[in-house]
Amino acid sequence: MLTGTQIRQKYLDFFTKRGHVAIPSVPLVPENDPTTLFTGSGMQPMIPYLLGQPHPLGVRLVDSQKCFRAQDIEEVGDNRHDTFFEMLGNWSLGDYFKEEQLIWIWEFFTEELSLDPKRLYVSVFEGNAEVPKDQEAVNIWKSLGVADDHIYFYGVKKNWWARSSFENMPVGEPGGPDSEVFYDFGGSHDCHPNCDCGRFMEIGNNVFMTYKKTDSGFEPLAKKNIDFGGGLERLTAAANNGPDIFKTDLFMPIIKVLGGEISPATRIIADHIKASVFLIDEGLLPSNKAQGYFLRRLLRRAAVKMKQLGMNLEFSKVITAIFEIYPMYLKNMANVNLEISREMANFQKTLDQGLKLLDKVSPFDLFQSYGFPIEITEELYKQKGLNLDREAFDLQLKSHRDLSRTAGKGMFKGGLQDSSEITTRYHTATHLLHAALRKILGSHVSQKGSNITSERLRFDFSHPDKLTSEQILQIEGLVNQKINEDIEVNKLEMKKDEALKMGALAFFPEKYPDVTTVYKIGDYSMELCGGPHVTSTSEIGRFKINREESAGAGIRRIYATALFPPQTKE
Ligand code: SER
Repeated sequence: MLTGTQIRQKYLDFFTKRGHVAIPSVPLVPENDPTTLFTGSGMQPMIPYLLGQPHPLGVRLVDSQKCFRAQDIEEVGDNRHDTFFEMLGNWSLGDYFKEEQLIWIWEFFTEELSLDPKRLYVSVFEGNAEVPKDQEAVNIWKSLGVADDHIYFYGVKKNWWARSSFENMPVGEPGGPDSEVFYDFGGSHDCHPNCDCGRFMEIGNNVFMTYKKTDSGFEPLAKKNIDFGGGLERLTAAANNGPDIFKTDLFMPIIKVLGGEISPATRIIADHIKASVFLIDEGLLPSNKAQGYFLRRLLRRAAVKMKQLGMNLEFSKVITAIFEIYPMYLKNMANVNLEISREMANFQKTLDQGLKLLDKVSPFDLFQSYGFPIEITEELYKQKGLNLDREAFDLQLKSHRDLSRTAGKGMFKGGLQDSSEITTRYHTATHLLHAALRKILGSHVSQKGSNITSERLRFDFSHPDKLTSEQILQIEGLVNQKINEDIEVNKLEMKKDEALKMGALAFFPEKYPDVTTVYKIGDYSMELCGGPHVTSTSEIGRFKINREESAGAGIRRIYATALFPPQTKE
């Protein structure tokens, strides 16, 4: 049995012997990178060096980087997903290239970790209009004995690496084709390495970091770089031929404290508390904003699962187990215990009440009167096979906020506790989109629905025909133009009739009180709305329409994202 700790050390030693300098992990909350909330991959702190800046420690580097992927919160529960993980990484900054990398990583996998070569599969970039098929990688894999039927070809969705998807790479962002290695845990499913059934698990990614996004496409970077990343938890699972990262020594001590049984719920609890411990130990505190919001969400989700399993919210044994797994990273257990128990003391009462009242009280009342987070109600509903109508919830909420604000009674307790920075940005983006649709398609367009999650916005509107790709580009272009103009978003209190007379848009005008709030974005958009909104449009990020479809007779639906900071890929 090889432990995660041994594998981490073997990897660092292996590449140090090959001329690499071992560098320490940077914090999970990046210190000097305003473009992203968390360090989500080993390459993230390396970006300036991949783009050409000389690294003070040379051209060959190796590390084990702590990573947190907020976008994977919902995926945790299966055998392979975790929000916190370590990524083993080695880099060539314009030094060695494909041949050395593939030969070395093959040697590391098959000799150091003794992985059975017959269980290893690889994928290679199939080529597109901008970047050719990676025949060179194919030839190297074959020279190492990889059989033809173990080599798979995929396009930009699977075999291109950048912090965002190929289509959404911001100008200046580095990226390149990659070649991934998968471990076959066996099983009867007749599938391919990228199948999600659990038979195959990606254990490493060799990125040939050779391109930079420009205004008009891509240009080659001045130097060809290697960026390798391999998840330590997955490599440990493969080295022990057990297809569950939660059965490795990097999780099992936590699972034991939780009673020893591996289930989706115990996996979620173990992962979320582990991630929270790391974030708090680095100095982050739970809050309603940015990184703190994700931390709060992790702790609350873990608490709900613990309650459902009949556990009390006693985290200290779990915290001790986590500190014992990671003595090389974690520092202040007393402080972590203090912050988590403080957060849980606040949440405990809300949680007890919410769980008791779930079947008796509407999600809105749970939120408004008991402060029960709407995401958690949504999740508990999902577990019961019920669908929470988020649109209806948001609309009640909006008019309620207006009412309580105009009445000045300050009775509304829920505040913005479910409004992350991201949803606020999407909220303002929705106003820009609404106005753009009316300008490009005509004033017959009116809002028929809206739904915002932290991943995307969805907007329904009246229009008889499918949009053409040209119209989609024009709409996107206009929204981005208004974002670039950095227009101030102003909140006004005014009489509803007066606002409507001035041309303010309103989804359900009759739902708003006589004196209401109006959000005005320069001369471009004006809508009756309860907010919240960003203060200036440049805070929204780059707007992109990802899908347009029918949502019923005479109604179209748009899905869009605003990528600022760039979203890391799964
Ligand atoms: N950048 C690649 C990844 O994160 C390899 O390090 O998967």
